[in-house]
Amino acid sequence: MSKPIKAIIVGAGHRALIYASYALERPDKLQIVGVADPIESRRKKAQEIHKFPDHMMFTSAEELASKGKLADAVINGTMDNQHVETTLPLLEAGYDVLLEKPFAVNEEEMWELYEAAKKYKRTICICHVLRFAPFYSEIKQRILNNEIGDIINIQLTEHVNYHHLAVSYITGKWGNEEECGTTMLMAKCCHDMDIMVWLMNHTRPKYVSSFGSDFQFDESKKPQGAGTRCMVDCEIEEECLYSAKKLYIDHPDRWSFYVWDELEDSGAPLTIENKIKSLKTDNRHGRCVWDCNHTVVDHQSVLVEFEDGSTGTLNMIGGSSKEDRTIHIIGTTGEIEGVLGESKYVVRKIDPRPGHEYSEEEYTLDVDGDASGVNGTHGGGDLRLVADFVDLLSGETPSVSTTSIEDSIMGHHLVFKADEARVNRQVVEIDTKDL
Ligand SMILES: NC(=O)c1ccc[n+]([C@@H]2O[C@H](COP(=O)([O-])OP(=O)(O)OC[C@H]3O[C@@H](n4cnc5c(N)ncnc54)[C@H](O)[C@@H]3O)[C@@H](O)[C@H]2O)c1
Repeated sequence: MSKPIKAIIVGAGHRALIYASYALERPDKLQIVGVADPIESRRKKAQEIHKFPDHMMFTSAEELASKGKLADAVINGTMDNQHVETTLPLLEAGYDVLLEKPFAVNEEEMWELYEAAKKYKRTICICHVLRFAPFYSEIKQRILNNEIGDIINIQLTEHVNYHHLAVSYITGKWGNEEECGTTMLMAKCCHDMDIMVWLMNHTRPKYVSSFGSDFQFDESKKPQGAGTRCMVDCEIEEECLYSAKKLYIDHPDRWSFYVWDELEDSGAPLTIENKIKSLKTDNRHGRCVWDCNHTVVDHQSVLVEFEDGSTGTLNMIGGSSKEDRTIHIIGTTGEIEGVLGESKYVVRKIDPRPGHEYSEEEYTLDVDGDASGVNGTHGGGDLRLVADFVDLLSGETPSVSTTSIEDSIMGHHLVFKADEARVNRQVVEIDTKDL
């Protein structure tokens, strides 16, 4: 049996600790041997969980890289606009990398990272966790088995519910493009665009158009009487669906890893009194949703034409009552239709026999954890992705879902072009010669 892969956490935030937890489930496969993070309490938390010595704690990716190669790989869970700058020195130091999405926030750095991985001959896998959700990997396998013929059209929808939208894309870390470096389409839907191009196998996208806007939370829509902080100066707090009190005090465990992270880092106990005080003073989630420097869209539609004339759409709508993702793929001999949150899909096939129209088979998946992804497991994809990364580094054949940096470029490229199309109100041609 091969030895476990040794990995160091870079950016010991919410996401990296989820991936690292695979080491607790399968110590025979993965061992976490260190951490790099500027926040001391986060380094200590990682150390408490994974029990590595003090000399394996570093204050940044850059400091870790300066020490040479101390493990096989790193799990890079820093924020979006830090992915490339933190990964480059680690590649040079000799590490393979499990890197959070989006792996780059513009075309230039996307290619820079790709070239660096080639130059240093390192493996980078991107955390496109949905590919590993049994829901999507089974659908991919059925397409590869040619069960529905050639794909004519793929329809994807993503409904981001109101509290998810608020905590991540309005008052949260991805609400302002300048701050986080990413658009809503990149931050939320690079998964979906990745799924679309992945399911199309090697048929490349050729043209893209896109529309979207900040329909609900533009400052001009601020209701009369709304203040600057929900629990301080708002006259309409009682009727507001987005009141911080309703979102985070009446539901104290909801998105706690986002809402209370700064309070936690400060060492203050997470009492209700401290939570209320934080929302009333410096907590970003205590701000009015119409007065928080929000710049990203709350809904966006993308329409893609592929080189063989097939088409695909993605409709992302933020602020829905229920969170979910759906898929409907129509091929020349059949179709696949499913709902991620129900972990169910059907395969229909044209049945031309007299008295018949089509056959239909329903598949329900046995997914451990939360199938919808609302609580962070992404349809069971999170730890399956880590297992795949570890297997790949141990010399096993890549799986159907493996998301190397090469595999991930097309989806990211499509997102950059879709946003260009939205902003300039144009149809943008995808120049695929480099991909
Ligand atoms: N795959 C998914 O479905 C998915 C879901 C949610 C978030 N994400 C992505 O995961 C990433 C991390 O999100 P998060 O909420 O866990 O972030 P986070 O803010 O909780 O964690 C980031 C950590 O990086 C640390 N850090 C900052 N600079 C550093 C440096 N130079 N070297 C080392 N560490 C440094 C921070 O102190 C922090 O602890 C984001 O890019 C986000 O878009 C992915």
